[in-house]
Amino acid sequence: MIKNIDMVNALIARNSMKLVTAPAPSDEELAKALQAAVAAPDHGNLTPWRFKIIRGEGIQQFADLAFRIRQESDEPFTEDKLAASKAWLSEVPLIIALGCKMDYSNTKIPEDERIIATGCAVMNLMNALHLMGYGTFWSTGIATYFEEFQTAIGFDPLEYRFMGFLAVGTPKMPIPQKNRKSYTEFLID
Ligand SMILES: Cc1cc2nc3c(=O)[nH]c(=O)nc-3n(C[C@H](O)[C@H](O)[C@H](O)COP(=O)(O)O)c2cc1C
Repeated sequence: MIKNIDMVNALIARNSMKLVTAPAPSDEELAKALQAAVAAPDHGNLTPWRFKIIRGEGIQQFADLAFRIRQESDEPFTEDKLAASKAWLSEVPLIIALGCKMDYSNTKIPEDERIIATGCAVMNLMNALHLMGYGTFWSTGIATYFEEFQTAIGFDPLEYRFMGFLAVGTPKMPIPQKNRKSYTEFLID
């Protein structure tokens, strides 16, 4: 049996860290964190989670594609938002694109539960990286909801639900202490 209250306290102290920079997790650290993701609960053992690891020049290509599609859409970013988003991604050393393999032929397990299992896997991944000292930020921004983008990065909507991406790296600032609400607010009679 594992009993480690320090680890629980570390989870309580987790925050999303949007502004990250190099170094990214090493290959070994990333492998460990991805293995933690695979330990997510999963109804029917469908293992629906899919991760696309993007580093180096791949990040610029990911960003160029996302911003091009966004700007050509009928909801383009303002110049300020575009510049800020480009500046953000230019410093991110690792992106993990997140997808859920929908396996529509399986009618036994409700589709929502595959997405929930993938969300659980992503949370395990975020927590594992947090425990290793890295910052993560889950984004469904820029071009996440555009089919052209989903298809271009390998998550064809006919097969997958694209669930956005994690920006991962070394936090650029100390992890802030957020005043989280008390869990007691979420108990119902
Ligand atoms: C599925 C998902 C998608 C998200 N997409 C965005 C996003 O596109 N832009 C954004 O500012 N925050 C987004 N967030 C919220 C941030 O990732 C983060 O959770 C939020 O800033 C609160 O920080 P915290 O995790 O430290 O509480 C998303 C969160 C989730 C779970």
